[in-house]
Amino acid sequence: MKSKVGILWGLIVVLTLGAAGFAVAPYLTFDSSLSRVDIHPSFPPHYPLLLVHIWCSFLALLIGWLQFVPGLRKRRADIHRLFGRIYLGLVAVGGLTGLTVGMFATSYVRQMAFLTLGFLWLFTAWKGYRKARLGRFDEHAVWMIRNYSMTLVAASARLLTPLCILIYLAGHGGQSSGGVAAVLKQVLEINIWVGLAANLVIAEWVVLSRFKRTFK
Ligand code: HEM
Repeated sequence: MKSKVGILWGLIVVLTLGAAGFAVAPYLTFDSSLSRVDIHPSFPPHYPLLLVHIWCSFLALLIGWLQFVPGLRKRRADIHRLFGRIYLGLVAVGGLTGLTVGMFATSYVRQMAFLTLGFLWLFTAWKGYRKARLGRFDEHAVWMIRNYSMTLVAASARLLTPLCILIYLAGHGGQSSGGVAAVLKQVLEINIWVGLAANLVIAEWVVLSRFKRTFK
């Protein structure tokens, strides 16, 4: 049973890193012509801000999971504190730049998804930080579970895209008049919302299971 859980976790980590790595790849060379996001010509800081957003958010995703490793948290509280501060700094910069570039998103539905996600990301980080400062570590853990679930939307929104495509095709008799591009356009309008909803539910599920274990 334990090895099955291990395999499942391994699969989740590989898929998450694969989806996030695939998303970040075009921004590794700092060449704005490779950007998948339409860069606003009348706002020169758009591309630099997008790069800062992508790098800070990606690093937050890469180090965030370490904070949930129980052995590390218990044995090396100093490392947990140091990584926690770095993580929260990355979320603050990634979130604020995410909100700024979100104002330039060409679609209103995507724009609202990014703004909602950005606000929830910053809000849950702030709550997590305050609870830690007040020494209320149970509540700190709950807010940080919620916060990391928002960090993971960058991966889950992409991983859920094939499912969204299948549901779209099922609802349209298996075809679309505009071809693959038209289907993708529709799906990319809503995939952030789908990832956001799924991750929020999973986070609350994890929080409730912890709560049940504590009060058993
Ligand atoms: C959780 C809060 C986040 C918010 C509010 C946010 C917001 C945004 C916004 C507004 C854009 C521009 C999209 C557009 O104009 O169409 C964007 C793009 C991007 N973000 Fe984030 N993001 C978040 C988290 C992350 C994370 C954790 C990563 C880590 C991999 C990430 C990686 C990217 C990448 C790679 C792009 C470029 C997308 C593309 O090429 O299609 N973001 N994000």
